[in-house]
Parts: sequence; structure tokens; C-alpha cells
Amino acid sequence: MNKDQTLAEARGFAKLELGRDSSGHDWQHTARVARTACALARREGADVFICELAAVLHDVADEKLNPSKEEGLQKVENWLQRQQVEASALDHVMQIIGNMSYGGGQGGTLPTLEGRVVQDADRLDALGAVGIARTFAYAGWKGSLIFDPELKPRETMSKEQYRNERSTAINHFYEKLLRLKDLMNTEAARELARERHAYMEAYLEQFYRELEPELE
Ligand code: ADP
Ligand code: NI
Repeated sequence: MNKDQTLAEARGFAKLELGRDSSGHDWQHTARVARTACALARREGADVFICELAAVLHDVADEKLNPSKEEGLQKVENWLQRQQVEASALDHVMQIIGNMSYGGGQGGTLPTLEGRVVQDADRLDALGAVGIARTFAYAGWKGSLIFDPELKPRETMSKEQYRNERSTAINHFYEKLLRLKDLMNTEAARELARERHAYMEAYLEQFYRELEPELE
């Protein structure tokens, strides 16, 4: 099977698996990550096929959509084997999707440029106007509040406290979103992250302004 056919099959598989998930992992998230990954790969000189294939499959194994991350990864690996994807490409894609998540994975920098590109593409989709939309969609899915004025500045809270139900959509900006700009691996992603970061800061300023309306 050639690369274009493999990618077309992978898109079909991911669409079917992700369905209409409303936790921020729907097919359109994957489609955006794949487009961004291709653009970053071209700019950074990474292997575009590997980046696109890993991006298309990256959330199929997500633990939110599977009984466990291991089972999710096994499902993707079995699928790649059935497509007769070359062993080196299969290993590379599995290595990327098994290690790219923000909280999990191996923590450090991903060992290949392709992994760093796909990770950047996924992180970029958590930023800007799209990232804001996904944050509120996720908070609704999880049953969290939009905002809680009682919640004290986030840096003083422990990770455990963040994880409990007191965390809010607005809090998620401080827990994660505003930190992502400095975690980008590639220069091309940093360039895209700057504008999206500034947009989120402006959004938060406006949000707080609306809490204390002032009339002339
Ligand atoms: P991905 O695996 O695609 O990077 P995540 O599973 O971490 O995404 O989260 C899906 C989306 O929901 C992202 O946009 C993320 O920023 C957002 N999100 C994750 N955790 C929370 C939370 N506790 N509150 C609000 N939004 C969240
Ligand atoms: Ni994702």
C-alpha cells in the first residue's frame, strides 16, 4: 500500500474510532493537528508522512476513549500491522503516540524531530481561539464550572487540588494553556504559539473586566 492510501485508510479509521467525542478529541481536532503537523514538518524538514500518520492516529489510543492507554496503543499497533505499514514506520509512529501527551509519556523531549513536530501540533490546538473553545467544551463534558472566584491563585495549589472537581475552565489556562508557549519544541511552532498565547491573554483580561462592569 502506498503512503497516500495508508493515510486515507488511517483517516477513515480515526474518524470511526473518535466518532463524535465531545471531550475535545473529536475528528476535527485530529484533522487540525494533522494539517498543522504537515505544515510544521515541511518548515522543519521532518518526514511529512510519519508526522501526518502519527497525527491522524494520535488520539485513537487516548485513555479517555479506551479501557486503558495500553489497550488503546495495542489497537493502533494492530491496525498498523494489518495495513502492512513498514516496520520502521510502525515503530516510529507507535513511539510518537505513546510518548507525546502533556501529562503522561516520558516527560522529557521526544527523541525524534517527527515526534517533536506532532507534539507541537497537538499542543498548538490547545491554544488560541480553538484552544479556548476546546477548554470550555472539555469543562462542560467533565462537569466543571466556568469560573470560581473563590479559587485562589492557581500557582499556590497542588497538582492534586487541580485535579479535583474544584478546578475550573478558567483555571485550566493557568494550569496548562499559558505554559505551553514555552514548551514548544520547534521554532515554527513557537512562531504560531506567540499569536495564540497573546489572544488568550487578551481573552482573560476581557473575562475579568466583565466580572466588574464599570459604567462611565
Ligand atoms: P490532547 O490529548 O488532545 O492534547 P487533552 O486530553 O489534554 O488534549 O485535553 C483535551 C482538551 O481539553 C484540550 O484542549 C485541553 O486543553 C482541554 N482540557 C484538558 N483538561 C482540562 C480541564 N481540566 N479543564 C478544561 N479543559 C481541559
Ligand atoms: Ni490531541
